[in-house]
Amino acid sequence: MLEGLLVDLVPYGRVHQAQDHAWWNGESSFWASMGEREIISRAAVERRHSEWVESDRPRTGVAFGVQTKDGVPIGYFGINFLSYHHRVANLGANISEPSYWGGGYGTDALLLIVDYAFDWLDMRRVWLSTMSLNARVLRQMEKVGFVLEGRCRRTALADGQWYDEVIYGLLREEWPGREAMIGRLGLRAR
Ligand SMILES: CC(C)(COP(=O)(O)OP(=O)(O)OC[C@H]1O[C@@H](n2cnc3c(N)ncnc32)[C@H](O)[C@@H]1OP(=O)(O)O)[C@@H](O)C(=O)NCCC(=O)NCCS
Repeated sequence: MLEGLLVDLVPYGRVHQAQDHAWWNGESSFWASMGEREIISRAAVERRHSEWVESDRPRTGVAFGVQTKDGVPIGYFGINFLSYHHRVANLGANISEPSYWGGGYGTDALLLIVDYAFDWLDMRRVWLSTMSLNARVLRQMEKVGFVLEGRCRRTALADGQWYDEVIYGLLREEWPGREAMIGRLGLRAR
């Protein structure tokens, strides 16, 4: 368990799985999947879970559930496509309950997962991508010091409009550490 100021990252488990049908079909999917909103059935969600659990392919990611300090599950964050050879990892971020957006929960979770990637998994670069419409992520990247590394033009179709996919990266030597970042951003427990 990674303990933050507003959230804890815990092993992704049954409690998050129970929310997954609502989360997959909810508004956060529009943002997390760059506009693509594939409505899926409860049975399909369960099938995906059991296929994942039963798969004997090597795991290339780490999945965390995000919960508030009083234990309410509000989403999941993950490290995907881990390459131990290159020591590069992609981050996935999803505060799936919209009522928690804009309250600092996602940034608290991001600081935890970046620290985990650099300090525990010994990665040297982390990156994520989103569509240029996603103002919350863009602001978050700027706050936390990620660098805009790439722009794939007109890649995401969201609500009938084309948006660029933007790619942000952070190198280990650019990361001052979670404690320093908490001080810089003035984050506090509530
Ligand atoms: C992206 C996400 C993880 C960010 O977490 P969060 O808790 O909402 O973010 P925070 O509150 O820590 O920071 C968001 C920042 O964006 C700002 N913001 C919020 N809405 C905004 C808007 N419409 N336009 C511009 N800025 C906005 C907030 O004010 C805040 O900046 P501030 O700290 O300077 O005030 C979360 O919103 C989320 O999961 N969204 C849905 C799924 C998604 O987009 N996933 C990301 C895929 S890469």
